[in-house]
Amino acid sequence: GGAAAIGGTAVGWGTRGLRSEETSPAAVAAGEAVTGGETEPFHGVHQAGVVTPPQAHTSLLGLDLVDGAGTEDLTRMMRLLSDDAARLTSGTGALADTEPELAVSPARLTVTFGFGPRVLRMLRPAFDPGLQELPAFSLDRLDPAWGQTDVLVQVCAEDPVTVAHARRMLLKDASPFATTRWVQEGFRRARGTERAGTTMRNLMGQVDGTVNLPVEDHARLLWSEGAAAAFDGGTFLVLRRIEMDMVDWDRTDRVAREFTVGRRLSDGAPLTGDAEFDEPDFEATDAVGFPVIDPASHVARSRSENTDERFLRRAYNYAMPTGESGLLFVAYAADVERQFVPVQQRLDELDLLNEWVTTIGSAVYAVPPGCVEGDFVGREMLN
Ligand code: HEM
Repeated sequence: GGAAAIGGTAVGWGTRGLRSEETSPAAVAAGEAVTGGETEPFHGVHQAGVVTPPQAHTSLLGLDLVDGAGTEDLTRMMRLLSDDAARLTSGTGALADTEPELAVSPARLTVTFGFGPRVLRMLRPAFDPGLQELPAFSLDRLDPAWGQTDVLVQVCAEDPVTVAHARRMLLKDASPFATTRWVQEGFRRARGTERAGTTMRNLMGQVDGTVNLPVEDHARLLWSEGAAAAFDGGTFLVLRRIEMDMVDWDRTDRVAREFTVGRRLSDGAPLTGDAEFDEPDFEATDAVGFPVIDPASHVARSRSENTDERFLRRAYNYAMPTGESGLLFVAYAADVERQFVPVQQRLDELDLLNEWVTTIGSAVYAVPPGCVEGDFVGREMLN
């Protein structure tokens, strides 16, 4: 499959690195496909886990460098963690892996690293891609427990055991240099539950991710170019932990729910269209002259006339055993201030969805470019 098969034509998630295991003897005997052997390449111009078709599970690790740790310590840590990631993503145990059997099914594992603003300040003036921090938003109710950290490790795979093992290996090797502030777990539908390429649903039941950054805009709006030589091919990641008020949402009828977003719940089609990928018609009015898609709806407010104000969304659902649930909103952009902030500001001013969603965690990271075999992520920046 290509762009059309995964994530819809608007996204163009590639299927690079996938290989079928349908011919393995065990699979043939059972008459089913075993896909745990599929891999996503760790090495490349860009880090994996950004344009990679989203795997079913994620574990976002927020790390803080220990007191007194400097560039040399971070360099040592990135060398170790990059080596772990290269091995684990290819289906071999990490160095001194105590449970190497858990590594043999990489299940499209990706490990993506990001550096927070404090690290970027530490690297200045030798390296300065333009410090990108978010301004305050009036509706945010931020809990420091989910706040900004020095380093982010985004671990994604189709299988939760693979994620848990990779996470443990990475945190073990990071432990001399950094402490774990938070772990944010997220999920989408399990592989095989729906046809590959079906747009995900969030826990409010909405089709979420239909309109995304098209492949032809990746060079201009996703990958950094010219901001700092050591950052060419990198990107920025915005993480927002957004809690959903499901008790109140449950009291809201379908008409109001669809009006809030401007799209149908059944298939994600705009209220003015027939199918998910139809263009919304913001001019259309009903019999009494009211707009069919409300100007305060989420799709109307999040869409910008300015084509620079776009980014790649790669969100995951979260649901805590204690009952809280919501969205791990993850967006990637070459320039957060120019592309993301204006959209978030507009939603903060007005969005019907705000009645049911509250941002409780927020962080931004510079995601260094990828590395070649034998090298480690962030080397050019840390030099
Ligand atoms: C579109 C849900 C937060 C930006 C959508 C759609 C849904 C949705 C159902 C329509 C389908 C689609 O095109 O993906 C949610 C929920 C949120 C949330 C439940 C919070 C829990 C955000 C945030 C931003 C954002 C924080 C950015 C600051 C967008 C954009 C689109 C979109 C840019 C595409 C608009 C277009 O049609 O051009 N969202 N969203 N969303 N959302 Fe959100």
